[in-house]
Amino acid sequence: MKTPNKFIQHYKDGFMPWAHQEPDFNLVEMVDNWPIKPCKTLEVGCGTGTDSVWLSQKGFQTTAYDLSPIAIEMANKQALIQKASVDFKVFDFLTEKVKPDEFGFVFDRGFFHGFETETDRIKVAKQISTVLEKNGLWLSLIGNADGIKTDPGPPLRSATQIVSSIEKYFKILSIRASHFGNDEVKPARIWICLMRKR
Ligand SMILES: C[S@@+](CC[C@H](N)C(=O)[O-])C[C@H]1O[C@@H](n2cnc3c(N)ncnc32)[C@H](O)[C@@H]1O
Repeated sequence: MKTPNKFIQHYKDGFMPWAHQEPDFNLVEMVDNWPIKPCKTLEVGCGTGTDSVWLSQKGFQTTAYDLSPIAIEMANKQALIQKASVDFKVFDFLTEKVKPDEFGFVFDRGFFHGFETETDRIKVAKQISTVLEKNGLWLSLIGNADGIKTDPGPPLRSATQIVSSIEKYFKILSIRASHFGNDEVKPARIWICLMRKR
């Protein structure tokens, strides 16, 4: 089964081990400590919308895509409860045509790492580069191959896999190891990768 169908089914089954109630602390720290200033922002693979809601509350004019209609419905409910303004859209970011130079910042948590083949990861990097304006930033939280594989658990990527997929389109500003921000006792090890469009 291909990745998109798998996710649509997961939301129908209520299987969302990645869902988190608080914004991921890695996003919060990166936005607070790096020159990521409020601007037109896109979250790709936003899931139930927790991080998009936080970004909009921090003054980022946020659009958020997910291919699962159930995820987008849940995200819209969350935004309503928190009185946040996010433009949530059902959108397949791998296959649909995107508008160029629309955003200053793209964020993803566990979206990029989900693509199994380098061909698809390069396609995602190209799409993100297209939607970003000149010098735009992409922050990606990516399962880390130095961590322990668990089931359920995120796909794990090596630094080499990340670099070979994104380098044509992005310069890496920073890459370091962390762990997902969630309620788990042993959250999965991740890479926090901040990139600038070439
Ligand atoms: C691991 S989940 C992470 C969700 C959310 N970022 C979070 O951390 O809670 C990956 C998300 O990417 C979405 N996704 C996968 N492929 C996609 C695609 N081609 N276009 C848009 N969203 C996609 C899935 O539906 C899923 O919600």
